[in-house]
Amino acid sequence: MNIAIIGTGYVGLVTGACFAEVGNNVICMDIDKTKINKLKKGIIPIYEPGLEEIVKKNLSSGRLKFTTELDYAVENSDIIFLCLPTPSKKDGNADLSILFSVVKNIAKVLREITIRSDLKVKKFLVSKSTVPVGTADKIKEMIDRELKKFGDKVEVNIASNPEFLKEGNAVQDFMFPDRVVIGVSNGEAEMVLRELYEPFVRTGAPILVMDTRSAEMVKYAANAFLATRISFMNEIANLCERLGADVEKVRIAIGYDNRIGPKFLFPGVGWGGSCFPKDVKALIKMGEENGLNLKIVNSVYEVNEKQKRIIVEKIKKHFGKDLKDKKIALWGLSFKPKTDDMREAPSITIINELLKLGVKIVAFDPVAIPNAKKIFKDKIKYAKNQYDALKNADALVLVTEWQEFREPDFNYMQKLMRTPVIFDGRNIYNPERVKKIGFTYYGIGR
Ligand SMILES: NC(=O)c1ccc[n+]([C@@H]2O[C@H](COP(=O)([O-])OP(=O)(O)OC[C@H]3O[C@@H](n4cnc5c(N)ncnc54)[C@H](O)[C@@H]3O)[C@@H](O)[C@H]2O)c1
Repeated sequence: MNIAIIGTGYVGLVTGACFAEVGNNVICMDIDKTKINKLKKGIIPIYEPGLEEIVKKNLSSGRLKFTTELDYAVENSDIIFLCLPTPSKKDGNADLSILFSVVKNIAKVLREITIRSDLKVKKFLVSKSTVPVGTADKIKEMIDRELKKFGDKVEVNIASNPEFLKEGNAVQDFMFPDRVVIGVSNGEAEMVLRELYEPFVRTGAPILVMDTRSAEMVKYAANAFLATRISFMNEIANLCERLGADVEKVRIAIGYDNRIGPKFLFPGVGWGGSCFPKDVKALIKMGEENGLNLKIVNSVYEVNEKQKRIIVEKIKKHFGKDLKDKKIALWGLSFKPKTDDMREAPSITIINELLKLGVKIVAFDPVAIPNAKKIFKDKIKYAKNQYDALKNADALVLVTEWQEFREPDFNYMQKLMRTPVIFDGRNIYNPERVKKIGFTYYGIGR
């Protein structure tokens, strides 16, 4: 099939590369010229395991193309995927201005093609962006309004196809999804999208077909539920700490309950990233605008805002109020391991709070330093490696649980640090073990 991807970011690039990988012709479009120029040379602008290999392979086979021209992408494709950003507005609502302006431009291109063409113009326009319930209907209204004077000469079928990939495991998630969700209003769109996804569900994952409003809601409900599990465990962790229980033992024990399961129960310094915060806020807003106060979802957000500051509270308690000129090493900047994405990362809140207290910060992350530099500039120092960050440090704060931080050389660390104190924001170290070596250890809820 001939596919256009509009918006070649984390979702668009993975989607485009994976569709090309199974034999489709894909044109990835973006307004970012630098990004597209890099991609044309096979240079991947983001860190995502396994992505470079399939981009390069499909680029050289000619199945994957990159462009900054919307009309070229639209003209040469049958299915157009919108993978555009839908960030939070100040009031918490999803900002759809980019998405709607692109839809308008697509309608313009289709108008021009229709005027030029003797044949009927037919396209499928599919939103992969996370969008508030009812957006597909609004897209349809816009398209119909723009193209109504052409009658049957042009047909645009609107669908919703929310994306569930996880950054850091995105290629694997796309190639082997747990399920594919398709929101359509007719059988033809269903058939086309089923065919497109057939190669990805050969191991038995279901393709779930529903109306566009339900499909749009699935994405928000899934993200809010996952965020709820984490915030719930963070509350339990904070209570464990007060009562002398160990949340790690509690987490494992409740995870064995089949009704609960072990995933997304890890307490820590709060959730972040490009999706959970904005999607939770947008869901709250959807409730408000429809006369419903979503109490649980509101609390999930509130609990998380507090949790992002929990390490700072622990640091203040340990060192006393005067933190001026204390030197703190920070391991991990990205919002989770295996990505360079810093959007709404808990490290941002932690660093900003510590800077306000006059703390000097030296940070290390395996891949996110270039993105961190855009945020913090020279307000913090960046270390060459994880041990370099520890030289003369008064404490280490572990923020992101990258694999290479899990089994460090504790004896060497102790020699490098001024005082051997660890604030383990992800509970990855064994408290007894590190205490025996000579560290003062603080975890979350233990
Ligand atoms: N990142 C994730 O893990 C993830 C997972 C599932 C769903 N989503 C959703 O997918 C959507 C995209 O997210 P993302 O993380 O890929 O965002 P992103 O910011 O990484 O990518 C968006 C891309 O769109 C481009 N763009 C902006 N304006 C444009 C325009 N007018 N025309 C063409 N391109 C334009 C940007 O340059 C950027 O490359 C969002 O709605 C997000 O909520 C993201």
